[in-house]
Amino acid sequence: MASYDVIIIGAGPGGYVCAIRCAQLGLKTACVEARETLGGTCLNVGCIPSKALLHSSHLYETAAHKFAEHGLNAGGVTVDVAKMRARKDGVVKSLTDGIKFLFKKNKVEYVEGTGTIKGKGEVEAALTAGGSRTLKAKAIVIATGSESMPLKGVEVDEKRVVSSTGILDLEKVPEHLVVIGGGYIGLEMGTVWLRLGAKVTVVEFLERITPGMDLEVSKQFQRILQKQGMTFRLGTKVTGVDASGERLKVGVEPAKGGDAGTIEADVVLLAIGRRAYTQGLGLENAGVKLDERGRVEVDERFATSVEGVYAIGDVIRGPMLAHKAEEEGSNLAEYLAGQKPHLDYDIIPGVVYTAPEVAAIGKTEEQLKEAGVGYKVGKFPFSANSRARSTGDSDGFVKLLCDAKTDRVLGAHIIGPEAGVLIAEVALAMEYGASAEDIARTCHAHPTLEEAVKEAALAAYFKPIHI
Ligand code: FAD
Ligand code: NAI
Repeated sequence: MASYDVIIIGAGPGGYVCAIRCAQLGLKTACVEARETLGGTCLNVGCIPSKALLHSSHLYETAAHKFAEHGLNAGGVTVDVAKMRARKDGVVKSLTDGIKFLFKKNKVEYVEGTGTIKGKGEVEAALTAGGSRTLKAKAIVIATGSESMPLKGVEVDEKRVVSSTGILDLEKVPEHLVVIGGGYIGLEMGTVWLRLGAKVTVVEFLERITPGMDLEVSKQFQRILQKQGMTFRLGTKVTGVDASGERLKVGVEPAKGGDAGTIEADVVLLAIGRRAYTQGLGLENAGVKLDERGRVEVDERFATSVEGVYAIGDVIRGPMLAHKAEEEGSNLAEYLAGQKPHLDYDIIPGVVYTAPEVAAIGKTEEQLKEAGVGYKVGKFPFSANSRARSTGDSDGFVKLLCDAKTDRVLGAHIIGPEAGVLIAEVALAMEYGASAEDIARTCHAHPTLEEAVKEAALAAYFKPIHI
């Protein structure tokens, strides 16, 4: 029976990073993955294919609708959905192959199959090629990720009623796409098909989109998306989707109760959140405890209720983000190798890759109010940033939240061009406990979008210059 220091079940960003780091630290490591390719949800059907389509659709929209204002005449730009999808598939393949290469390079044994925890230190892998293998290890890591949340009355067929996976592979631009859920997936994928020519209606249960985000940013985000042509039905619940006819009939009703109605659609995207995926792992037999939301319960070192069994990524508490899973993967590897890493859950950025992008880190204004923390706000609009004005992407603002007494940065919320890049500066600043004055006194190149961060910091600790 093959014996290892660590066996990781699942090769998403949590699992594959953990495996590579374990091997780099001298631990004998195997990684069991059920999917045909490595990289998990993120590389195969998540972050990467969605960003590939976001970029292609952005280029189309720019060429078709924005070139003219720059004095560029590019008539006759058309959309070839099949080619766009093929490009996206090529990007995914190159990256998933890349993980295979990294496994080889770092001597991680790749076991193609489905893993089940059999008992203390024992994993059985039902091999994709047939048969099974029993593997022994000192440590077992559960990194099995998450899956789309289902909704009663909505039967996903991945053709007309799709999850985040089916929406990546539509064969043509739908006339009317109805999105259930105004969160990350709904708004990113809604944006893709809106740009390509679909009418898009987002049905959201709450009275706002992107819950959890700073409310001021959410409201501005919704206004900008509306200006782009997206329609919102807030405070509305979906009661079911009738797929018996040629067109889909989406049953809707006010969340607080009231008259029911229907919306006709060609495609419906169900994107109301994700839930931990633990099926077939044999957790009950192994005695691994789950929390009230079906996630694997872990302590601050990712240890589960069973000695020698650990869990990381989407399958445990915390934001369901690839970079959070990656940090947990490498931190766990370091714990297993006897080191003392640290991850600050207050400093995990989140980015929505629409145009403009929306990025957030740390506390929102609502959270600071609720916690009774004295804070000050430094805000700066991109309309006053010279670089944003020269490219023409000047919607949005940078908002910094700082401690009223110490000036320490507690949160940043950015809606605007390259917000996902700009947030990294604040992440580093927060990691080092920086104040708004520290950011403001750092020399930023001109003309750059980063100057909007500096100006927001100036606004927080004294006064901005350019507004
Ligand atoms: P996963 O990536 O889900 O990987 C788990 C792996 O475990 C899977 O490959 C699965 O096949 C395997 N597995 C499960 N059970 C078994 C078993 N018993 N045996 C063997 N293998 C098993 N996050 C971001 O940070 N940025 C983004 O831009 C972003 N975009 C997204 C877009 C979409 C459409 C979706 C759906 C998600 C997106 N996410 C994004 C979220 C991100 O994909 C997840 O947070 C991340 O993939 C979680 O990593 P993980 O390693 O925990 O799990
Ligand atoms: P989400 O949690 O971001 O948004 C779900 C939305 O659906 C919420 O606004 C919620 O109020 C709403 N909702 C819930 N039940 C509903 C119902 N019955 N009817 C109507 N609306 C309902 O979840 P989403 O968009 O499915 O994405 C899942 C996760 O994947 C994200 O939370 C994020 O962690 C990750 N992700 C990250 C991305 C990124 O980093 N750019 C991109 C895509 C996904």
